[in-house]
Amino acid sequence: MAKELNKKSEKGNQLESEEIMEKIVALCKRRGFIFPGSEIYGGLKGTWDYGPLGSELKFNIKQAWWKAIVQKRQDVVGISASILMNPKVWEASGHTTSFTDPLVECKTCHQRFRADQEEIIQAHEKKHLDLKEKVEWTQPRKFNLLVEAKVGVVEGEKSTVYLRGEITQGVHVNFKNILNSSRLKIPFGVAQIGKAFRNEITPGNFTYRSIEFEQMELQYYVKPDEQESMKYYEFWKEERMKWYQDLGIKKENLRFRQHASDELAHYAKAAWDIEYRSPFGWKECEGIHHRGDWDLRRHQEFSGQDMSYFDQETGQRFIPWVIEASGGVDRAMLFFLIDAYQEEEERIVLKLSPKLAPYKAAVFPLLANKPDLVKKASELFSILKEADLGMIAWDERGNIGKRYYSQDEIGTPYCFTIDFQSLEDETVTVRDRDTTKQERIKISEATSYLKEKLLK
Ligand code: GAP
Repeated sequence: MAKELNKKSEKGNQLESEEIMEKIVALCKRRGFIFPGSEIYGGLKGTWDYGPLGSELKFNIKQAWWKAIVQKRQDVVGISASILMNPKVWEASGHTTSFTDPLVECKTCHQRFRADQEEIIQAHEKKHLDLKEKVEWTQPRKFNLLVEAKVGVVEGEKSTVYLRGEITQGVHVNFKNILNSSRLKIPFGVAQIGKAFRNEITPGNFTYRSIEFEQMELQYYVKPDEQESMKYYEFWKEERMKWYQDLGIKKENLRFRQHASDELAHYAKAAWDIEYRSPFGWKECEGIHHRGDWDLRRHQEFSGQDMSYFDQETGQRFIPWVIEASGGVDRAMLFFLIDAYQEEEERIVLKLSPKLAPYKAAVFPLLANKPDLVKKASELFSILKEADLGMIAWDERGNIGKRYYSQDEIGTPYCFTIDFQSLEDETVTVRDRDTTKQERIKISEATSYLKEKLLK
């Protein structure tokens, strides 16, 4: 029987939730999805390295996003801006002054925490109280999250720059370049995927809060009109929710949450999060923000460059408003993994969408010591690899049951086995990961079979 992860967390069973996360972290390490960053040197808190399977999964998530947001639309183009930017960008965007979290320090042990993370604060207090120690906190102070770096070649004359705290500004500073080099008309969007960096006070929950992470963002420029901008705001909210569901996250594990006015980021007129029901509670996966004219107006002010748009149809000139859909690639990947993870009686299985699965299929010869079987299986392996459908795995170790177990654990949706009958009638068995049912198809139809399944 499949264990339902989220029913457990609904019961609030802390231990079981922790156990589930431990199992997922262990699976990620064991099978090469995610490793702790710089592990052989004792690690660097809040950094993670993606292994062979993790890189594939991450790539597939980004590709699915890019396809949906850019390639399948006519009104969105892509950009890939620099991580390092002129520091004035961050003054204009408000990050040097307002990109802060409230920090408190425990006066007993000098550990630092975010003052707004009540659960963590309470757990820390309990730790001291259990040891009969008193707990006293410093007053909360604003802690800026921008990560600094030094550039320049002359010691003593190096200048301080920031590793971008959000990928957003690379789009807005290029607004005019994009307009002048394309034939886009408002409304239109600019999409980007890339790394962002934040000096998080309490990185944690595996990759959920890291200091280096990837974002996938759409900045959608609209007319400065309340009603029209809200129409696009609602459109993108729904589109983004649908994207997660279409890629397999269970509906009941996703919800919207509106930001209260005192919670809004400095640039936002309105904000809703798409949240995921994780073993550590409902957590933000993506933010849909109404940024108004904040970014372009501020860049116009600070750079002295004109950031307006001329609408040829109406003859009006204006600074567009921006609707933003800002998702985290690492968070999406973590939530896809958690949602797909199931323990059944005889196996652990990752029921990932075939579109995201690192390997699309595996090919086995039934017995590794039979050259005819190995030859036929390797022919099929080459055909499937050449078909350009994604990564195909080869396995001839151990018995067939172990090979299925191994592929289930990494989410491979289909396993093709060449057996003795294959040598007689040019057929192959295909096993479906989710149902474990097998069917026999013609070897010559294996590519179209797999293609059709992957397109579903
Ligand atoms: N441009 C808007 C912006 O950056 P945000 O809500 O601060 O908005 C957007 O971040 C998304 O980036 C989040 O929903 C989350 O998925 C991801 N993200 C933010 N901070 C993160 C962190 N420390 N570690 C991993 N992902 C993070």
